[in-house]
Amino acid sequence: MADAVAALPSAASGGPVLDYGNMLAGVLPRGGVAPERLQPEGRLARRFRRAFDETEARRAAGEMGFFALPAARELADRARAAADSLRPWCEAVVVVGIGGSALGAAALRDALLPTGWNGLDATARRGFPRLHVLDNPDPDTVAALLDGLKLDRTLFNVVSKSGATAETAANFLVAWQRLHDAFGLEGARRRVLATTGRTGPLRELASELSLRSLPVPDDVGGRFSVLSPVGLFPAAAAGIDVDAVLEGAAAIVDRCASPELTRNPAGALATLLHAADAEAGARIHVLMPYADRLKSLAAWFQQLWAESLGKAANRAGERVETGPTPLAALGAPDQHAQLQLFMEGPRDKVVVFLGRAVPERDVPVPRPFPAKPALAYLGGSTLFGLLDDERRATAEALRRESRPNMTIMVDRIDARSVGGLIMLFQIAAAYAGALYGVDPLNQPGVELGKALAAGLMGRPGAEPPDVPAPDPRWRT
Ligand code: PA5
Repeated sequence: MADAVAALPSAASGGPVLDYGNMLAGVLPRGGVAPERLQPEGRLARRFRRAFDETEARRAAGEMGFFALPAARELADRARAAADSLRPWCEAVVVVGIGGSALGAAALRDALLPTGWNGLDATARRGFPRLHVLDNPDPDTVAALLDGLKLDRTLFNVVSKSGATAETAANFLVAWQRLHDAFGLEGARRRVLATTGRTGPLRELASELSLRSLPVPDDVGGRFSVLSPVGLFPAAAAGIDVDAVLEGAAAIVDRCASPELTRNPAGALATLLHAADAEAGARIHVLMPYADRLKSLAAWFQQLWAESLGKAANRAGERVETGPTPLAALGAPDQHAQLQLFMEGPRDKVVVFLGRAVPERDVPVPRPFPAKPALAYLGGSTLFGLLDDERRATAEALRRESRPNMTIMVDRIDARSVGGLIMLFQIAAAYAGALYGVDPLNQPGVELGKALAAGLMGRPGAEPPDVPAPDPRWRT
């Protein structure tokens, strides 16, 4: 189907390329989207054009700063310069943040640094520091990490746009005290870099203590901030080519300049996912990379999609309680865990596979037992050959059961393609917000829980909340 591949990149750009053939009527044995609906006068194409126009208007009004981050050279230069200054002394960077202030750094690290980076020695790391991401204030994790660090050679990058997030603040306070106890005020100061918004408690502290700091732009929200200093500083510190990440992202911004659905890969992705939900009840959107290195990217996507699209009210203020449920899966392990449900369970899912044409390295599968047909047939192949055949076979199996799915391919997992994937999903989230009729940039639903927790913790100004103790009658 000629139109089934949205906006094919030139061979040199390396993708991502979205193949949505397995969403279409005629390709799926039953159901699916009639291809003519995607053509310029088709209903989905027109629906997308409205979403595109709304997104462009908000972008022009300065509300969607993430589009401009690939071109924000000054910000990238500042992040890179701060990272370069660590080279002589730093063995570990610890990002202290949560949600959008943590998941992007982990996604970049896991996708783009050699597998097992933090376990490698300094030579294998080419002198770049280890990169830890501390999000959960789970005492087991925090204590174990801090106990295992060479504190004198560690930089804590505390990341919080608001500067007021309790989990981040608590983890930071624990780290700060350890630094202060070990090295005094000046020594602690030198081992902290704050990435934060223009105002807020962390910005104030950074000014008072003259901490090194990097900005989070006003018009860039947490889950859209990975291409700002929030993600760029830790990535650059660990030696990731952040310019290539930004180049890949810029290429996707260019490819998403068209209001024509089949020429805009983020538009096709968002529109087809939204249509599957709104028209066919497929409200679970699964992202399933076939690469361990992209597992953290799927976790990042899960937060982006959930927090951007799950809303009580639409933009007109009406109560709608809408939004798809994103689900991260991993090929091949989830073929043995979740695929049974995807194949035979309720028809409430769309699976988006994520594959690469070429692996970073491959391992031949030998044939030491030629007389054992159950083993011998694998010999002569490679591990990547098996993994990739499984990805294709799983997509085909779903198709044969009329289970809609799409595939996003990159040539290889590198800085450029990962930058492209990040921007593709971010733009898709913006379009999907418009398609669902909600504001993808806010997250009012997390405020109540935060306020109650602040009250329980006794934050000044926070109401001590009436949180009922568990009722013994309802226990068993
Ligand atoms: O996407 C978001 O806006 C959130 O997930 C935030 O990133 C998260 O709550 C952390 O906020 P902050 O950076 O203000 O500490």
